[in-house]
Amino acid sequence: MKRLENKVAIITGGAGSIGQITARLFLEEGAKVMLVDLKEDALQKAADELGGQNVQYCAADVTKSEDVQRYVNDTVKAFGKVDVFFNNAGIEGVVKPITDYPEEMFDRVIAVNVKGAWLGVKYVLPQMNDRGSIINTSSVAGINGSPNVSAYITSKHAVVGIMRAVAVEAAPRKIRVNSVHPSPVDNRMMRSLEEGFAPGHAEAAKKELEKTIPLGRYAEPEEIAQLVLFLASDDSRFITGTTQVIDGGLSVM
Ligand SMILES: NC(=O)c1ccc[n+]([C@@H]2O[C@H](COP(=O)([O-])OP(=O)(O)OC[C@H]3O[C@@H](n4cnc5c(N)ncnc54)[C@H](O)[C@@H]3O)[C@@H](O)[C@H]2O)c1
Repeated sequence: MKRLENKVAIITGGAGSIGQITARLFLEEGAKVMLVDLKEDALQKAADELGGQNVQYCAADVTKSEDVQRYVNDTVKAFGKVDVFFNNAGIEGVVKPITDYPEEMFDRVIAVNVKGAWLGVKYVLPQMNDRGSIINTSSVAGINGSPNVSAYITSKHAVVGIMRAVAVEAAPRKIRVNSVHPSPVDNRMMRSLEEGFAPGHAEAAKKELEKTIPLGRYAEPEEIAQLVLFLASDDSRFITGTTQVIDGGLSVM
């Protein structure tokens, strides 16, 4: 039997790197998947690439309550229920010391990464089957400090707070809630941050960052997806309220 046979999953940030690759894995494991992201054209492209009847999409801004309620309702209309919520949409903000960090960018990062994650749980939970699984994407930035990305660090720590609070609230229904904490992943978001750390020298910034990771490289998005699949499936049925670090050893340094 496939690991997500007959399960319905919502993936926010579903047109992005980690979201789309996780959707592919979920589909291979028998799930029906609702992709949620900002732009219709990116979602259409992602759904076309994934293919088949078991993937649908909903364009929504996770910071807006009415959009969140719409993506939950669309999922229930399309597939009848929700079993897995991969609460994953996020933005990196900019790279600047806190003294120069634009307040409006701080507000935007908190709106997407914290309020978006909170609203998602708030509206998914009532439509989720008992024994469901919620996986929130935090980061090593949700466990450790790092200079010049204060809004991102703050937001990813807050994701742990949402996870811990709801793990206790949802436990009577045997719904599990965990967070994943990747180190840098080899994709668009890191290209943007590398450029911010060392304008014009992104490749050199990447090499420096890789030196800080004991296993010597960034994560691949597929590796994050494998961890999310484990947390989504019954293989992790006694795991709730945890911070799952996936970082090549970065956070022990
Ligand atoms: N890339 C990394 O190195 C890394 C490391 C640790 C954690 N993360 C986290 O992983 C998650 C996925 O990021 P990714 O690496 O796939 O990057 P990505 O930029 O490819 O994907 C993020 C997706 O979220 C979507 N999104 C942004 N704002 C939204 C909004 N308001 N409403 C709906 N969708 C919105 C974007 O359109 C994008 O498709 C994020 O939460 C990110 O913070 C990434």
